[in-house]
Amino acid sequence: MKALITSGPTHEPIDPVRFIGNRSSGKQGHAIAAAMRDAGFDVTLVTGPVHLPDPEGVTTIHVTTAKEMLNACLAALPTDIVVCAAAVGDWRVENAQDKKIKKDGTGLLTLTLTENPDILHTLSTHLNQRPKLVIGFAAETQNVVEYATAKRLKKKCDWILANEVSDTKGFDAEQNEVTLITDVGTERWARQGKPHIAERLVRKIKLHFDMP
Ligand code: PMT
Repeated sequence: MKALITSGPTHEPIDPVRFIGNRSSGKQGHAIAAAMRDAGFDVTLVTGPVHLPDPEGVTTIHVTTAKEMLNACLAALPTDIVVCAAAVGDWRVENAQDKKIKKDGTGLLTLTLTENPDILHTLSTHLNQRPKLVIGFAAETQNVVEYATAKRLKKKCDWILANEVSDTKGFDAEQNEVTLITDVGTERWARQGKPHIAERLVRKIKLHFDMP
């Protein structure tokens, strides 16, 4: 079976030397790609800029921006499963410059931000190539399960992993703490290393598809 995983941040350019990004390291998404590979899936990983090696035996596509990530994901269809673990920039700079911006003495710089396409929602609502199982993450600092439950419905994915983020878990940390939310309920997973979260998710996916 084929699996598509997104991982890492996106970088949205301001000018040729500056960008808007976030603290995602790609550790969680890459661990999921490796665990899916170990379970025998044919894995494509679409990753933003990270400092991790490409997982062996995984088709890895490198992108920078959210629009590039969306295009790479659409090009990877059809797939049976998608796991969107990337921290996609919600906005990009509408007036990005092709030359380095200079200070103009006013002490101000105005950037206009425009919303990026939502990759998870696009794949969840794909008319003829919707993956059989669409899984997202929801990174939250408060009201984690409540907000993630609403996000699962809004983005129309099948499962969502509510991801409680703080300085020591979530973004760029070794550990993660998640609650799996599906249409049948919620399951809280204790705080643990990202590879363990990945293995547990893969066991759930195999169970879902009645795989040995
Ligand atoms: O990369 P690490 O350092 O290991 O950290 C892992 C992680 C914390 C980044 C990861 O576990 C995680 O929670 N990823 C989702 C982060 C996020 O951006 O969450 P969100 O609540 O903003 O987005 C919800 C979902 O929509 C996510 O599945 C996201 O991939 C997806 N999304 C968001 C915006 C967008 N334009 N397109 C999307 O597909």
